[in-house]
Amino acid sequence: MYPKHVKEFLRCYDIQYPIIQAPMAGGITTVELVASVCNAGGIGSFGAAYMSVEQLDHDIKAVKKRTSALFSANLFCFDVPPAPAWEATNPAISQYMKLFEQFGIETPSKYPMIEDLFSKQLEVLIEHQVPIISFTFGVPDRKQIERIQSYGGKVWITVTNLVEAQQAQDAGVDALIVQGYEAGGHRGSFDPQAKPSEQIGLISLLQLVSGAIDIPVIASGGLMTGKSVMATMVLGAVAGQLGTAFLGCQEANVTASWRSALKCAQDTDTILTRSFSGKLARGIANRHTKLFEKMEDEIPPFPYINSVTGPLRQHSKQIESCDHQSLWAGQSCRLTRSMGAASLVELLGKELQEAARF
Ligand SMILES: Cc1cc2nc3c(=O)[nH]c(=O)nc-3n(C[C@H](O)[C@H](O)[C@H](O)COP(=O)(O)O)c2cc1C
Repeated sequence: MYPKHVKEFLRCYDIQYPIIQAPMAGGITTVELVASVCNAGGIGSFGAAYMSVEQLDHDIKAVKKRTSALFSANLFCFDVPPAPAWEATNPAISQYMKLFEQFGIETPSKYPMIEDLFSKQLEVLIEHQVPIISFTFGVPDRKQIERIQSYGGKVWITVTNLVEAQQAQDAGVDALIVQGYEAGGHRGSFDPQAKPSEQIGLISLLQLVSGAIDIPVIASGGLMTGKSVMATMVLGAVAGQLGTAFLGCQEANVTASWRSALKCAQDTDTILTRSFSGKLARGIANRHTKLFEKMEDEIPPFPYINSVTGPLRQHSKQIESCDHQSLWAGQSCRLTRSMGAASLVELLGKELQEAARF
């Protein structure tokens, strides 16, 4: 029922369905979520970027006990920029400070220290011979790619335009995740200053990339149903990587307020914002994004702002308020379905089958 290029991908990764549960950093992708997706015939992924090496070690061991299938882990691959000066007169900084005061949270007077964990996290993944390691925000160096491939591991890179796709292919990686403008969460752009106007929709991007690239291409952004995944296969994709669709799963570590915001959002409610982390990301507009709307260009870079807003986001989560949570979501978030991850993978598989008869 699948096109030849999809069948080859399924055979190569020994999976039943061309469905990848997207890595989602921030504690969302639990061991239960990853293992359930894998055991149901898809590929589950850990969003490992913010995980300590101890947590990563623990979760990889735990998932290996629950499944013998291939799984993936994802890291953010970028150069941490030098810490900017803390400028209290910067309108964005002064807005963050007002919020700290309002919530009675201790106001910072400088940026928190950033520990660059990338190399240590990668060592853990390589030590455990994680079958698929995916990277977003950039491409690791050739030696790192070769170390993964030398134990039979596969390297996937998220790309958001043709230049990035070419760069990743030239580095010798195994597949590309083509991330469209619709996608929830951070943009995978290699350029930390990439602008909203430079982001490309999934249909355009797939046509551009699949015509110019020889390695397998995985589609990502706004895919919520098996039918939409099938549509990307017509354009050359071997599989779909779905994030928002899996936020509705019981196994995902998502607050109740975020879950209901996903379903209640109007079709025009998601926006691209730098206000939570300093890097462009898509989520449901809320009080926080509105406060920073007019000063998006003044917001200091990732990962500094991500650490600054940590306590604000945590506070909002604890009281189940949507106001200052980063409600990451793709443009089709209204179509999120609440169910177990295995049932969702099977339902997506059934919808793919129906779409194939179309
Ligand atoms: C809550 C959330 C967190 C995400 N975190 C990551 C991440 O850590 N690494 C990554 O490569 N992509 C991340 N993404 C992006 C996904 O890989 C994927 O591109 C996106 O979810 C696709 O769009 P969709 O949400 O409409 O399915 C995240 C997406 C969401 C919704």
